[in-house]
Amino acid sequence: MTSAEWMQLEDASQLNTYKKWPIALEKGEGAWVIDTDGKRYLDLYGGHCVAFMGHNHPSVVKAIKDQADDLLFYSNAVYSPVRARASAALAAWSPEGMRQSFFVNSGAEANETAMKIARKITGRTGIVAMEGDFHGRTLGALSTTWQAAYRKGHETSFGPVTFVPFGDSAAACEAILSTKPAAVIIEPIQSTAGMRTAPKQFFHDVAAACKEAGSLLIMDEVQTGVGRTGAFTYSQVLGIEPDMITLAKSLGGGVPVSAVLVRDEVAAAVNAGEQGTTFGGGMLAMAAVEATLKVLEEEGLCERSLEIYQQFEAGCLERGLGVQGAGCLVGIDFGKPLGSIVGDFRKAGILVGGSADPNIMRLMPPGIVTDEEIVSFFAALDEIMATNLQVAG
Ligand SMILES: Cc1ncc(COP(=O)(O)O)c(C=O)c1O
Repeated sequence: MTSAEWMQLEDASQLNTYKKWPIALEKGEGAWVIDTDGKRYLDLYGGHCVAFMGHNHPSVVKAIKDQADDLLFYSNAVYSPVRARASAALAAWSPEGMRQSFFVNSGAEANETAMKIARKITGRTGIVAMEGDFHGRTLGALSTTWQAAYRKGHETSFGPVTFVPFGDSAAACEAILSTKPAAVIIEPIQSTAGMRTAPKQFFHDVAAACKEAGSLLIMDEVQTGVGRTGAFTYSQVLGIEPDMITLAKSLGGGVPVSAVLVRDEVAAAVNAGEQGTTFGGGMLAMAAVEATLKVLEEEGLCERSLEIYQQFEAGCLERGLGVQGAGCLVGIDFGKPLGSIVGDFRKAGILVGGSADPNIMRLMPPGIVTDEEIVSFFAALDEIMATNLQVAG
């Protein structure tokens, strides 16, 4: 079948909720994906920020194949060697004082779990979140997601959510101290919003206000975590000690899995039976986590993510383009609407993304992308800018 025929078949039987690119992918290797017509794409969208280890990393593929031979799944009703190993490996990577974690299946679920733990421990219901944040699409996570388009028609009785301007210490501290929420949740590099960042001091101010108000600080590191921003978590880069950190996207090297890292004092207040999920911590996902964390170490991807950012930054500055983000989260600001540029890149064989900011293009490249591949991105950019009047104009 051709790509067009595959698209037609999928559209006929899938709920029409996604604006999909008109390509049908069937293979991946490293930083590249291949469609059903055999066309190759350099994936700087990183499989929606999932493929930090690259697509089909051989170690991850081998680990899940081997695990599939042994036992595909059993729930948390039992112990499991692979869960024990993955969990211990995650604890070893986690920031000091966060020895325990809870495995779930998606970013939204991880954030909801963290907020639920905070509500239980504090006995409060309020949440402070940042303007621009994206925390997921399930009802609780959605309530703390900023963009009105996502929340419209889905306002819930989740509890009071106060949004404050991202990066504004005075406004954030005032909101935290006056509302004394159960938790403050922050997406530290706002990817969907266009890789927006805030000064380091902002995070320290928020952390101090949380301590004073008796509120828990949750860092949504669904995108920034697992080495993508220079350390295992971006909280470590910032030098803050949140109460919980949520991880997803890259954690399973392509296999769906997420986790909540929990500070020891908080973990001590969580009791048996208070939280549960059937699929969280399943064997296949655990084999993927164990292998992914090994790859992170063996290939030095934390350090490499910083070099990758520097190369993108230098290329952008050379061309007079704005650039923001960190590590393998790169927002390129064209200073005017992107127009057809995302599609132009796709036609040129490179996958890139747009963002909620019409001027900002998003790259979430794999940590294994080579210098030459980044050079080829800029060569394509120069060609597109020369022909795309909207951008070059
Ligand atoms: C920062 C952040 N938090 C949470 C989520 C939700 O994750 P999921 O789609 O796995 O539920 C996303 C998804 O893009 C995200 O980028």
